[in-house]
Amino acid sequence: MVPDSFSCYLVHKTDNDRIESAVAQRPIRDLPPGNVLIQVAYSSLNFKDAMAAQGHPGIVKRFPHVPGIDAAGTVIASESSAFNVGDRVIATGHELGVERWGGWAEYVRVPAAWVVPLPESMALEESMVLGTAGFTAAQTVASLIHHGITPDSGELMVTGATGGVGSIVIQILAKLGYQVVALTGKQHRHQWLKRLGAARVLGRDALADKGGRPLLSAQYAGAIDTVGGKPLATLIKSIKYRGCVACCGVVAGTDLPLTVYPFILRGVTLDGIDSAWCPDYLRVSHWHRLANEWRIQPPQDFAARVSLDEVGKMAERMLAGQITGRIVVRPVGD
Ligand SMILES: NC(=O)c1ccc[n+]([C@@H]2O[C@H](COP(=O)([O-])OP(=O)(O)OC[C@H]3O[C@@H](n4cnc5c(N)ncnc54)[C@H](OP(=O)(O)O)[C@@H]3O)[C@@H](O)[C@H]2O)c1
Repeated sequence: MVPDSFSCYLVHKTDNDRIESAVAQRPIRDLPPGNVLIQVAYSSLNFKDAMAAQGHPGIVKRFPHVPGIDAAGTVIASESSAFNVGDRVIATGHELGVERWGGWAEYVRVPAAWVVPLPESMALEESMVLGTAGFTAAQTVASLIHHGITPDSGELMVTGATGGVGSIVIQILAKLGYQVVALTGKQHRHQWLKRLGAARVLGRDALADKGGRPLLSAQYAGAIDTVGGKPLATLIKSIKYRGCVACCGVVAGTDLPLTVYPFILRGVTLDGIDSAWCPDYLRVSHWHRLANEWRIQPPQDFAARVSLDEVGKMAERMLAGQITGRIVVRPVGD
């Protein structure tokens, strides 16, 4: 049954332009238009959500706002022939949690085109342990495979290794037989990263090149970069002939101080990954892989579960680079 109102984590701007947030009760009619109404069982905390929770102007266009770029739950009303009441589904990306209210709420209403069926062998909670981070991880791994990088090609570097995307990438790549070199700023997490499947773990200094040479010693067959900026530039200069870097993130910066030499002398490919507008047919196939041949079995301490009351604090910790693994958001009490 469709309720009259619902709980959500609401971010708003005060009259003197201060950003405040709190768990609030809103009438269901406040949800944006859409032909599928989903009762959210789980959402998650992604870097974009952490920024949205602070009302970042690059993410939040209108206040009040509900963050949450992903959600998994059960359809409770549908005007679409693609989904029936009772279907278990996942919604990620598009405008969810950015242009329109997202998954940090008991309900989301979205266009059917944004929804994919939950893979049969996957539980709702598992889908948000992965969430947008896992979906993005799948895209990056698919990119390296598409560009011909095999386990025999050589070592792959993964940056931002303890973060959501990085830590899932490591587990998928290790499962597929790749040798992963994990790059992390967290000295105390080296063993944890090895438990996830990293063959070697390096500190961030390994990509802190200050020499400015256009090419560095060719060390990695490929890489998955979640941080951007100068570390990404150093990484691209360190890729072997015909290697590939799939990049998705910006936590270390948006500038890319590079020459064209890695591309024209070593044939390196830089593949940009976008999860928000990934075409539907790929969306379904990536989720299928995550539920089957790329299914990971994370350790118990990989994901923490938080309520709407707790997620704001976690978002602050994420922006301070203090989170390890994944944070699952449970909008309803058990
Ligand atoms: N393109 C897309 O569609 C897409 C989708 C999902 C995410 N993203 C982006 O990918 C990035 C990672 O997302 P996430 O969800 O994995 O975030 P996350 O969980 O916060 O992980 C980011 C990791 O980067 C490392 N890091 C943090 N600050 C850093 C700095 N200043 N320099 C170098 N490394 C730093 C930290 O790992 P260590 O401590 O282990 O180094 C941190 O755990 C974000 O920029 C996010 O916006 C993009």
